[in-house]
Amino acid sequence: MARNQHAVIWTSVSGEPEKMGDLLLSAEQVSFTYREEYLSSGKAGFCLLGDASIWGADTVVYPVSERIPVFPRMLSLIPGANPRNLQRKRYLDLLKARLGREPLPGPETEWQLLMMGGHGGIGHVDVFQDDISAEQWYWSRASLYDDPGAAKRSGKRSQLWRMLKREVLDENLDFDPQLIEQLLGPTPSVGGMISKLLVSVTPTGKTPVFYAPGASNKKSVVLKVEPPEYRGMLDLEALCLDIHEESGFEVPWHKRMDDEDLHFLAVERFDQTADGLPVPMESLFSVIATGDHKFRETGDIFLEELGGKLDRLGQVANLAPDTNEQMYRRILMALLTGNGDLHLDNIALLGGVADCRLSPIYDPAPMRAWPRHNLVSAIPYNPEGYEDRGALFVELGGSFGLSDSQTRLCIHEALAATSSYAERVAALDRVPARQRQQLVEIVRQERLLLEKHGISS
Ligand SMILES: Nc1ncnc2c1ncn2[C@@H]1O[C@H](COP(=O)(O)OP(=O)(O)O)[C@@H](O)[C@H]1O
Ligand SMILES: [Mg+2]
Repeated sequence: MARNQHAVIWTSVSGEPEKMGDLLLSAEQVSFTYREEYLSSGKAGFCLLGDASIWGADTVVYPVSERIPVFPRMLSLIPGANPRNLQRKRYLDLLKARLGREPLPGPETEWQLLMMGGHGGIGHVDVFQDDISAEQWYWSRASLYDDPGAAKRSGKRSQLWRMLKREVLDENLDFDPQLIEQLLGPTPSVGGMISKLLVSVTPTGKTPVFYAPGASNKKSVVLKVEPPEYRGMLDLEALCLDIHEESGFEVPWHKRMDDEDLHFLAVERFDQTADGLPVPMESLFSVIATGDHKFRETGDIFLEELGGKLDRLGQVANLAPDTNEQMYRRILMALLTGNGDLHLDNIALLGGVADCRLSPIYDPAPMRAWPRHNLVSAIPYNPEGYEDRGALFVELGGSFGLSDSQTRLCIHEALAATSSYAERVAALDRVPARQRQQLVEIVRQERLLLEKHGISS
């Protein structure tokens, strides 16, 4: 990129929109400087390790790379590069119209996508190209909530359905993206791989009725839309949310919904207070990458190192004391439910440096049911020197600072929590039989490997 790029970060963490500071991108690095008023307010910084309590008035810097072309915290504000990402398609179309040509792949386009979709997403950080755009956006968003029912009455909902059917189910339908924006507001980027929208829903209906995010008396949700090539995935994900909830994990309200050929999972947003104020949320991927400039991929650390990373974070942030144990428990649940996709963007921290903790559970989908996702753990581990995988996962407790007896209790409880899982998977008739059989067999094996070490449910 030949020229430096400038942008601004705003937040409405305290209820009123305010500017946090200025962002500058050069070919080598991205930097952020807090505004003095924001610095002295003591409010949460734009990311945990970029917090003002660590950097003071100094400019926060991060060396950019092709893989991470902005601050890691901003990656989740850029729509993901998978073919079905609704937001990326929409913004690339807008960009193409603005440029009069196809946008070139690379950091410049990613930056433009950040400017277009980097506000109103998950967490408390809103990125804009300048202060005027920020003010206009907050103003227009407020007016969107004045009459949340208006869009429904005017029939714009059918446009949204047409869009979802076209983009997710490949049906040959036209839709008007501007009408959808009038219904939902400009749809912000959300991370992850499957198509999703940030909307509000009425919690009782069987078929979903959607409103703009933040509409009053509705639930603000992440709405996941099932890709047709993964039939039943959202049933499995909902089952895994239930299993976690039943065994005492913090799990958001969630509901499976269907409408004709579209299948949804609505999950209540936990990056907001009851009054709808944004709560800082940052993935472990982002936290680790901000602190370690050599780290670029989930695969760049071993599972055995995760406890140490959390310990180090606990030296600069006030991290809930049971974080390491909870992390280990989540890893065991992932192993015993066939979720090989517990990567570092599927684990997040809520809150700022003064007070942060693991977020509730999200995205526990047991992806090992599909052969091409049949990986034991997205975060790699080093099996050398272990008799089998069971031995490794038993030993792993120690790397999270747990004693042998604590480790064995965690394993015992995870085995108990998942004891009826295979049966419940087998009963999910929307999931293809092949996927059910594969998953049941995988979790049977994983249980045996742990039970071999003298632990039972
Ligand atoms: N209930 C929720 N509240 C707040 N943020 C959420 C919630 N569920 C998911 N997210 C955020 O949205 C991102 C994508 O959701 P996820 O369920 O992981 O989708 P995918 O299956 O596509 O990976 C997550 O990485 C997380 O940042
Ligand atoms: Mg995910």
